Amino acid sequence: MFNAIVTTPRKRTDLEERARTTAELLKFPFVPRNERSYETLRRESGVKAILVVADEAPFVQTPKGRLFFHENTAGKRTKDRQKPDPLVRIMELQPDDAVLDCTIGLACDALVVAASLKDGKVVGVEVNPLLEYLVREGLRSYNFSSSRLAAAAKRIITINADHLDFLRRCEDDSFDVVYFDAMFTSGVEASSSMQRIREIAENAPLSNEAVAEARRVARRKVIIKGRRGCFTDLQFSEILPAGNRVFYGALKL
Ligand SMILES: C[S@@+](CC[C@H](N)C(=O)[O-])C[C@H]1O[C@@H](n2cnc3c(N)ncnc32)[C@H](O)[C@@H]1O
Repeated sequence: MFNAIVTTPRKRTDLEERARTTAELLKFPFVPRNERSYETLRRESGVKAILVVADEAPFVQTPKGRLFFHENTAGKRTKDRQKPDPLVRIMELQPDDAVLDCTIGLACDALVVAASLKDGKVVGVEVNPLLEYLVREGLRSYNFSSSRLAAAAKRIITINADHLDFLRRCEDDSFDVVYFDAMFTSGVEASSSMQRIREIAENAPLSNEAVAEARRVARRKVIIKGRRGCFTDLQFSEILPAGNRVFYGALKL
C-alpha cells in the first residue's frame, strides 16, 4: 500500500476544505500545514510523498523535488502532422481506435497517441493514486500549447489500478492497441522529472502475466517500450527506435 499525506501550501488555510475533500477521495490522511516545512511534515508523518492542493494545480512534493503535470515533449512530438511520432507509426492508429495505455505515468505518450485519434479514445491505467490524480486533474485543467493537445486531453480517461488486475477484467479483443512503458530497471535518468516520478512510481518490471493478458485484450497490436538489451525473450514483429537506446517493439500476436 502506497503511503502519502495531503496538505496545503503554507499560509493557505483557505484551501484546507478542498485538501480535506481530496484526501478523503484518495483515502490518504489530511494533515494541516501549520507553517511546517515539507521536511518536517515528512519526518513527522513518516511518508515520502506529500500531495499539495494548491490554487493552480495540485503537485506532489517528493524528497527529490516537486512533481506536477505538464505536457512535457508532447507538443514537439505532435507538431508536424506529416511526420508522425514513432509511437504513432508503430501503432498504425486508425482515427476511431481504442488504445489501452497500461502505464500512463504523466501521460506524455498518451497525449501523443490521443492527438492522432479523431473519435477514438485512450484509457490510461496508473497504479499510483497520486500520479493518477495529478494526471486526471492536469488533463482537465492544463493550459496546453496547442488546440490539438487540448482536444487530445479530452480523449483520455485515467483509471487508478494495477494494469494486471485491469487487464484481467477486460473482454477479449476489447482494445485495438495495448501499450506498456514500464519503468526501466536502472535508475540512470536523463531528466530530473523522471527522477521525481521514480520516487513514487511503481518500479517493478513488466510481468509475463500482464503481457499474456495484453495479447488477449488487444485486437491488433501490443506495443512495448524498452531499452536496448531488454525484453530479449519477447518476439517482436517490428521495432522502431524511440530515441537514445530506447525502442518501441510490436509483439507478434
Ligand atoms: C515510465 S512511466 C510511464 C511514462 C508514460 N509513458 C509517459 O509518457 O508519461 C511508468 C508508469 O507506469 C506505472 N506503473 C508501473 N507498473 C504498473 C502497473 N502494474 N499498473 C499500472 N501502472 C503501473 C508507474 O507507476 C509509472 O507511473
